[in-house]
Amino acid sequence: MSETIDLAEPDETASAAVESTHAPRKVFIKTYGCQMNVYDSTRMEDALAADGYVPAASMEDADLILLNTCHIREKAAEKVYSELGRIRALKDDRRTTGRPVTLGVTGCVAQAEGEEIIVRAPVVDLVVGPQTYHRLPQIVARARRGEAIVDTEYAPEDKFDHLPHARATRIRSRGVTAFLTVQEGCDKFCTFCVVPYTRGSEVSRTAATIIDEAKRLVDAGVREITLLGQNVNAWHGEGVDGRQWGLGELLFALAELPGLDRLRYTTSHPIDMDDRLIAAHRDLDRLMPYLHLPVQSGSDRILKAMNRSHTAADYLRVVERVRQARPDIAMSGDFIVGFPGESERDFADTLEIVRTVGYAGAFSFKYSPRPGTPGATMDDQVPGDVAGERLARLQALLNDQQHRFNEACVGKTFDVLLEKPGRRPGQIIGRSPWLQSVIISTQDHDIGDLVEAKITAAGPNSLSATLTGRNTSA
Ligand code: 5AD
Ligand code: SF4
Repeated sequence: MSETIDLAEPDETASAAVESTHAPRKVFIKTYGCQMNVYDSTRMEDALAADGYVPAASMEDADLILLNTCHIREKAAEKVYSELGRIRALKDDRRTTGRPVTLGVTGCVAQAEGEEIIVRAPVVDLVVGPQTYHRLPQIVARARRGEAIVDTEYAPEDKFDHLPHARATRIRSRGVTAFLTVQEGCDKFCTFCVVPYTRGSEVSRTAATIIDEAKRLVDAGVREITLLGQNVNAWHGEGVDGRQWGLGELLFALAELPGLDRLRYTTSHPIDMDDRLIAAHRDLDRLMPYLHLPVQSGSDRILKAMNRSHTAADYLRVVERVRQARPDIAMSGDFIVGFPGESERDFADTLEIVRTVGYAGAFSFKYSPRPGTPGATMDDQVPGDVAGERLARLQALLNDQQHRFNEACVGKTFDVLLEKPGRRPGQIIGRSPWLQSVIISTQDHDIGDLVEAKITAAGPNSLSATLTGRNTSA
């Protein structure tokens, strides 16, 4: 079993149950941060399952505990260190029972801090960066023999070629939606961001391996796939027709897969929204009309200091083109307030761009200086209380927009993918095309059905609906 703590993006939980082998060891993975970490945790579970590990129901029940960490903002790393402090007591207790626990830190904090983690928290047995997860079974075996291991190298081989595929039963246990990483790393070097340092430079997986993995997911019952990448729309590679493809082509190819009802992708950069990708939004019904397109700030001065390579007007032009192609598309974004040098006037530009675009959902953060990034040493750092007050104003506006978007859905009819049982008997929770949770009372539909529903009520975070009786699965 793995548990997800959401720090950066929408809450998604990667859970798993595995076919057991005799006397299996148990692993518990706690996942922090973005969806890419959720995906990585499932792949780590798959790699360890091939070595006989099964998921533990809790940390207390595990022989191996892995914290799959996020480094995007300060709080994230601090949470990891306090969790390590708590696990120390557990580990000490277990030493006396003859069933010792092995403790590992993986993910972006592992990559950024490396050996420092073991110096600061000697309770940790292994530190593994995101590029070497395929070596995890060997690393864990060595750590169990008492060796402290730090592996944060960029492996020359492609980890995805070496990670085992999950069996259909494991995929099924994870539900009808799945993530699929198509691209990792980033070459954009926004001055606030650690990703180019922790995940390295941009690497795309091949179209053939992505389509193959998508087919496996669909064969095992997955109905919706979200393609992942730190810079997902920079994805490029040789297509199955031998030509050079971009993300648009890849989406056109994936939309052909029978049984795959829905496609999404995240996270995009405005400068990589090319014509073919916009055409995919125009032509593919299966590509959901929801686009997460971070702008970070509405001020050209700050965008320049952030090295975003676009202006506010460039961003608005992209939004306009996407909306022309797909009029019902809803926008979501990421925002940072309090970047060094941000004046009240710059912040007013951010509020302005939010008002102009109108977001259905968004993530907004107070700037957090990340060691090693250019932003951390810039003059004119904004005091925390000033940034906090701006963040509150921005979030009030974004919440209001999200609420209004939800309210506008009342009375409308659209497809809902049924994802999981609701809290009350007879209730199922589904997902709208615009990523809203939809609560439906129904006895006669199954998880995985794509059904037409009429929205009857809207709350800040979910919708309620009744069924119209149509099943619209592909
Ligand atoms: N401080 C605050 N927010 C950040 N993000 C990335 N780096 C930082 C930072 N140093 C936010 C950006 C990005 C999202 C994933 O996290 O908005 O799009
Ligand atoms: Fe970070 Fe910018 Fe790359 Fe996004 S585009 S991962 S914000 S450097």
